[in-house]
Amino acid sequence: MKIGIDKLGFYTSEFYIDMAKLAQARGEDPNKYLIGLGQEKMAAIPPTQDTVTLAANAAAGVLDDSDREQISFVILATESGIDNSKAGAIYVADLLGLRKNIRTLEVKQACYSATAALQLARGYISLHPTEKVLVIASDIARYGLQTKGEPTQGGGAVAILMSAEPRLVAFDADSAFYSENVMDFWRPLGNDTALVDGHYSTNIYLDLLNKTFQDYQAQNGYQIDDFAGFAFHLPFTKQGKKGMQALLAAHASQKAEYFMEMFEVSRQYNKQVGNLYTGSLYLSLLSLLENSSQLQAGDRLGLYSYGSGAVGEFYSVTVQPGFRKWLQKQEHQQLLNHRQEVTITTYEKMFTEAVVDGTDRKLDTTADHARFVLAGVKDHKRVYLSR
Ligand code: CAA
Repeated sequence: MKIGIDKLGFYTSEFYIDMAKLAQARGEDPNKYLIGLGQEKMAAIPPTQDTVTLAANAAAGVLDDSDREQISFVILATESGIDNSKAGAIYVADLLGLRKNIRTLEVKQACYSATAALQLARGYISLHPTEKVLVIASDIARYGLQTKGEPTQGGGAVAILMSAEPRLVAFDADSAFYSENVMDFWRPLGNDTALVDGHYSTNIYLDLLNKTFQDYQAQNGYQIDDFAGFAFHLPFTKQGKKGMQALLAAHASQKAEYFMEMFEVSRQYNKQVGNLYTGSLYLSLLSLLENSSQLQAGDRLGLYSYGSGAVGEFYSVTVQPGFRKWLQKQEHQQLLNHRQEVTITTYEKMFTEAVVDGTDRKLDTTADHARFVLAGVKDHKRVYLSR
């Protein structure tokens, strides 16, 4: 039985900043951000969006009534959740009007958690082949204003519907993973911004790519040219470019130029949004599926997932016949193209006014046109509006 991704939905905030303008405001050469980091725009997340609303907005765009009936498990993958105890998936399932006889869970392991959730979903569907699992990767990346990590922020959610006989991609049997206790990026309890050893983290990312790809190859003997393309975790898109170049440097390929072209396609969306943490790899996969004219049914795509701390996983999926029919390219491009640019001052205000604790407050939701918004906190409980 094939198991894999049946549908992919995406949502990010309606607001963004121009990376060249952020560079000017921070006294940096714009090309450092545009070329050096490979980022053109960065999502600015208003206080009226959190990881629950981003997730619900991403999923609402792809689910139909029959999906709602079949979903019996919802997993929210996030490292910027809204509660230390209660799973954000419970709020999301409620906002989406899903059945009550379902399992709901939140998982965390930095930017790796969505991959763990998908593998969990895969096992679940092998036991319950008529049911579907909704995995949503939702995060708001926060390093702090005027920090080195600031240009690698962003936010948004990717909703991933897992099923048997999937219409987009099927998971292949092989997968290689690796965990090592390192302090490259973390967020101690009580901090609303991440701490990071930036250059060290970029090196660990590449080390684990090398280790997991070698293990993956040992399992099946595939050569790099057996793939039609790759998608990488993209904390900023230059990092994935380094990943692609590292694979090509270590493994002989007749298709090096083609792979670099495919990499450009895979980073199109991420360049416009910034870091989604655990959703970044799946936004890149979405970008590849929606924007490549070359992909065909039967093509094998390699996926590299990385989460600081650190866990890496390399696995592959096979593109399914008719996959283009089930994508929402037009909707996703409209979402990105119809966003409103905000000034650096407005972005800074959004950043500092974000709801990061349980203190009561009321939010003005008029500027946010999303279907699901956060209206405030009352009696230490978040209040969501569905419109
Ligand atoms: N024109 C073109 N390129 C320029 C340039 C210019 N004028 N000025 C600088 N650059 C290039 C630099 O050469 C460099 O490129 P290379 O790495 O290819 O040499 C790039 O721009 C960045 O320059 P610096 O290294 O000097 O930048 P920095 O010291 O300010 O820090 C960073 C960059 C380490 C990525 C920092 O933004 C950061 O800490 N970000 C957060 C950590 C992160 O994203 N780590 C990724 C791996 S961890 C992970 O993946 C999990 C996750 O999501 C967090």
